[in-house]
Amino acid sequence: MSMDPILNYLDKNRDRHVEQLCDWLRIPSISSVSEHNEDTKRAAVFVADELRELGLHVEVIETEGHPLVYAETEQRDDRRTLLFYGHYDVQPVDPLDLWDSPPFEPVIKDGIIYARGGSDDKGQLYTHVKALEAYLKTGTELPVNVKFIIEGEEECGGPAIYKYVEAHPDKLACDAVVISDTSLYDEDTPAICYSLKGLAYMEINLRGPGADLHSGSFGGTVQNPGNAICEIVAKLKDEHGVVLIPGFYDDVLPVDDTEKEAFASLNYRDEVLCKDTGASGPFGEKGYTTLERMWARPTCDVNGLWSGYSGEGAKTIIPSLAGAKVSMRLVPNQDPKTIAKLFEAYVKDIAPEGVEVTVIDHHGANPVMVPRDSEMMEAGMRAMEKGFGKRPVFIREGGSIPIVGTFQSSLKQPVLLLGYGLPNDNIHSPNEKFHLENYFNGIKTTAWMFREATRSHV
Ligand code: BES
Ligand code: MN
Ligand code: MN
Repeated sequence: MSMDPILNYLDKNRDRHVEQLCDWLRIPSISSVSEHNEDTKRAAVFVADELRELGLHVEVIETEGHPLVYAETEQRDDRRTLLFYGHYDVQPVDPLDLWDSPPFEPVIKDGIIYARGGSDDKGQLYTHVKALEAYLKTGTELPVNVKFIIEGEEECGGPAIYKYVEAHPDKLACDAVVISDTSLYDEDTPAICYSLKGLAYMEINLRGPGADLHSGSFGGTVQNPGNAICEIVAKLKDEHGVVLIPGFYDDVLPVDDTEKEAFASLNYRDEVLCKDTGASGPFGEKGYTTLERMWARPTCDVNGLWSGYSGEGAKTIIPSLAGAKVSMRLVPNQDPKTIAKLFEAYVKDIAPEGVEVTVIDHHGANPVMVPRDSEMMEAGMRAMEKGFGKRPVFIREGGSIPIVGTFQSSLKQPVLLLGYGLPNDNIHSPNEKFHLENYFNGIKTTAWMFREATRSHV
């Protein structure tokens, strides 16, 4: 089978493929903000309609939260099946004033598209749709059966997709799950990700006096929740970046020598870290390199911290309340539920007297590791090599894609994380971007993936 018709088609249709992506990006599908519920639904319908027009059988599945989209091509027994996953929801956009152009009015500058969702994940997910379009519109016979399961609650931790995957393993049966929601290693180096971190996200609330008090009248006589939250946070980690929660590291798979060497051979430079983050230098757990910390060591970080008065000028009070949100990024084989329990017990144990402590366990995610030696992984490597013109390297990621663990346990097939973003795409931040070259190469990679996944190519 020649790929020429497909590749020619993709070349000729580049501009339209960009315009259509922009149309999708204009829909503000922020899943965590309820005033955007209708927009979020519109983003689901947008991709569902397009897949239906391509001739797929499509279902928009209503849930208690945002809809799921399931779609499939004709399923033939003599072909392998690829299940594509992605998410059409996006993160909130604040702080809005730090955006150079409005988040839902895509702008293209120097071959880069700027918009919320450009890289995470509409732009990446759309590569799957456009690759499929190229086969169907050129009348090229599809070498595999294709299925899509697309969700709208990835960014807000909604439960719909877990329930669905666990309830429909037969419907979603496949030979591999393909996901594009991660990044290349750098601008010149395509990558396949084989491990994602998990997550335990906690909130601590402290209550002290019944109301804010005059800090002169009552200071020094009762516990101050603002001071208390600082004492607690200060005991989460020591000065070497080591997490102090008892049992926290018990289930951590150590980075073995082979992996250490593999990481080292990528020659990660801390200047890149400084440039990508705006930080003055690296910081983290002593005894580990930046990549080891980023990819293979668990973390514990304050995400938000509040108490008392932070407005203009001085206001002399002892605050009544204080709190913190803390994320712990987990690595195989840590379990988010176990870690959440250890966290709660520790916080209650170290909390100073005079404050009432409540700990909330927000959504979590299991860490995942996928085998690097499957036949399908080989196919993914070849597809990416053809799409990007360079053999990919193996990477891990510090981020989480919560459903991946459920795909592994329910479908029992390899999960391929073929990422087309860049580590500095500003996902979840102002000025999110997606490089058009990576978009086009991503579409080509997916188009090759359909072919490389067939038996005749192993
Ligand atoms: N696409 C990201 C995951 C990701 C982040 C992959 C960085 C590679 C690099 C995903 O959309 C995401 O943001 N996940 C959340 C999950 C959380 C809300 C449970 C995350 O990691 O914070
Ligand atoms: Mn994502
Ligand atoms: Mn995200």
